[in-house]
Amino acid sequence: MRDFKGKTAVITGAASGIGFALAEKFANEGMNIILADIEQGTLDIAVSKISKLGVEAHGVTVDVMDKNALNHLFDESVKAFKNVHILCNNAGVASTADANGIWELDESDWEWVLGVNFYGTLYGMQAFIPHMLNHKEEGHVLNTISLAGILPGEAIYGVSKHAALALSESMWQGLKNVKSNIGASVLCPGFVNTNIIESNRNRPDHLPTENKTNFLLKKLASSVLKRGKEPTEIADITIEAIKDNKFYILPHTSYDEMIEERYKRILSRTEPQEADMQEILKGTLLGEKGEW
Ligand SMILES: NC(=O)c1ccc[n+]([C@@H]2O[C@H](COP(=O)([O-])OP(=O)(O)OC[C@H]3O[C@@H](n4cnc5c(N)ncnc54)[C@H](O)[C@@H]3O)[C@@H](O)[C@H]2O)c1
Repeated sequence: MRDFKGKTAVITGAASGIGFALAEKFANEGMNIILADIEQGTLDIAVSKISKLGVEAHGVTVDVMDKNALNHLFDESVKAFKNVHILCNNAGVASTADANGIWELDESDWEWVLGVNFYGTLYGMQAFIPHMLNHKEEGHVLNTISLAGILPGEAIYGVSKHAALALSESMWQGLKNVKSNIGASVLCPGFVNTNIIESNRNRPDHLPTENKTNFLLKKLASSVLKRGKEPTEIADITIEAIKDNKFYILPHTSYDEMIEERYKRILSRTEPQEADMQEILKGTLLGEKGEW
């Protein structure tokens, strides 16, 4: 998709970080924007900032874990702008719960992280893609994944992102099967300087507070994230990739060797590479580049 002006973008998780940076870039391209987020206060601020860029922007409060909320977001979007052209399933959370064995992690952490990162993406696709196919204008679906969806490790977050990547690859095939003019991309960044490490701020009230927080891991991750790429740089790269209809968007190159190693290990039919997050974070802090 190359012609953005006057078209409509819907972005989940748009009040902060990568989602907000995408909203800014799309607005600068002259698009109308629906910003969706669970955090009402920051969402209101984000909407007023985007409105000042001279485009029409609306905020809709949604919890992407809730399928009905995505259907409501869809209704509000078409009410405001009629046709939706770009859908960004971007809302995501990272748990800081940690254990030696992944089987020890609490059910509530699984429900929350898979609920937002996997089901949130699926519900977004289910709510919007039939409409995007029906109106027949050019469009694009962007799902924010992570390098954690390609590399081993990262516990529940990694599982949720691998699932979301597989879902997105199937979506891409489905869009081809029906010969649609809707492109698809997966955004798989390494570390980006956002508020992701404070994801617990949006943990639903009905799910018990995380009780296996690894505070050292959280502190290390927080330092590495601050040295990561800026969300605006990620958004610039993403918009160019959408224009060129590239599916895999990997803004960080410093971990390419680890990706290659993963597939080598699979083809060597032996064992996965070790992925101890704490060691990786320490190494990243010591290294010249603070990006993963
Ligand atoms: N920051 C990184 O290093 C990094 C790296 C790879 C991938 N990602 C992915 O990027 C995406 C955006 O995260 P970010 O880094 O900008 O973090 P962020 O915390 O700054 O932004 C995430 C946004 O999602 C919203 N959100 C959380 N739960 C929600 C829910 N249930 N319903 C609706 N909105 C919800 C938050 O309120 C927030 O505004 C996520 O999918 C994340 O997994 C981030």
